[in-house]
Amino acid sequence: MTMPLRCLARTVGAGLVAVAALTTAGHTAEAEAADTLGSAAAGQGRYFGAAVAANHLGEADYAATLDREFTSATPENEMKWDATEPSRGTFTFAAADRVVAHARSRGMDVRGHTLVWHSQLPSWVGTLGAADLRTAMNGHINGLMGHYKGEIHSWDVVNEAFQDGGSGARRSSPFQDRLGDGFIEEAFRTARAADPAAKLCYNDYNTDGVNAKSNAVYAMVKDFRSRGVPIDCVGFQSHFNSASPVPADYRQNLQRFADLGVDVQITELDIEGSGSAQAASYTKVVDACLAVDRCTGITVWGVTDKYSWRSGGTPLLFDGDYRKKPAYDAVLTALGGSGDPGGPGDPGDPAASCTAAYTRTADWSSGYNGQVTITAGDAPISSWTATVTLPSPQSVSSLWNGTPTWTGTVMTVRPSWNGTLAAGASTSFGFTVAKNGSGAAPTVGGCTAS
Ligand code: XIL
Repeated sequence: MTMPLRCLARTVGAGLVAVAALTTAGHTAEAEAADTLGSAAAGQGRYFGAAVAANHLGEADYAATLDREFTSATPENEMKWDATEPSRGTFTFAAADRVVAHARSRGMDVRGHTLVWHSQLPSWVGTLGAADLRTAMNGHINGLMGHYKGEIHSWDVVNEAFQDGGSGARRSSPFQDRLGDGFIEEAFRTARAADPAAKLCYNDYNTDGVNAKSNAVYAMVKDFRSRGVPIDCVGFQSHFNSASPVPADYRQNLQRFADLGVDVQITELDIEGSGSAQAASYTKVVDACLAVDRCTGITVWGVTDKYSWRSGGTPLLFDGDYRKKPAYDAVLTALGGSGDPGGPGDPGDPAASCTAAYTRTADWSSGYNGQVTITAGDAPISSWTATVTLPSPQSVSSLWNGTPTWTGTVMTVRPSWNGTLAAGASTSFGFTVAKNGSGAAPTVGGCTAS
């Protein structure tokens, strides 16, 4: 029952009120926890996107994971200048078209990435003089935005125009070096005219916390807002690792930009690492976005670790086999979703089950110690019962980590403190047996679980 919720959330622009109003089979959709990133984010009025590479769309698991989990797509490289205008005035849209068609036919929004950037720039751009470069920049913006007019939710109009480090200066590029600071403003004005319905974003990295670089971007956005230069959003790439962790003032930084009257978006999120530490960092990012009203969505920079641009750092939510990582569960939970939409006892859940395995852990002339290991099956369990039949005339002199009851020679053991097991998890109980002349092995019966 998650599909109607998801579809409605997209149709109405992901409004929380509208989602909550949907009723299915007598209970509200709100009461039914969302079980994908996209549906959970929609419940919070946000999109959840991924960077998408056209050449992986033919891989069934890639496309299935993308289609199931994500409500927005950013072409990872296909809209960049070198891909779309490799020689002046000759536009090549085939690869980007494939991403846009795939996404749009499945109801996803598309982020356009990116129009004016110093990197992945064909060499001809760098050879132009100022007047020619201005014409070429505007021609490039018009060429892309015209081709995709009405199809793109948000465009990264200018990407990475500021230097790293403490100076807050603009980065050297053909645009900066020949046209000066004004190239950014000009790009935004051209973009607004080219597709008035698209949100126009400035996008950068190492601007996620409050620092000299983000201060410089902030000053620019503030100036644009005060002078009516058309800007609607600021993208925070958010590429994190141990050397560049999620900043403590991330939310505060997003909020100060939002307070300028622009939307903020997390545009290229990836966090190197694994396990619970990686999951905790992802939770911080989601929590920060949800705490800022104008943080309208999150995009992770890829679907699976194996195709990440930083694949060695396994920075994404799905591993190379498209299995959900702990970071996935953390993001889903932070978005208010749940991997178990029906709750315990849902017909779709695997049934509670367990197995019992016996070993003799010690043996001496008059006795021995036995141990039974209880392992939960595919579902978590809250209790278990195992039976052990002792050969006559043996008797049990002590038992630990379990609670025994007796019927003749049959000992039924239930948990003492250790009834609750996660799916696949184990516990064990042990007992000491007086042989009374017989060293034969006990028989361990089946395990039942609830
Ligand atoms: C990266 C892509 O993921 C790589 O496949 C490509 O080789 C280089 O660019 N900032 C950006 C993105 O704005 O466009 C970059 O994407 C990552 C850093």
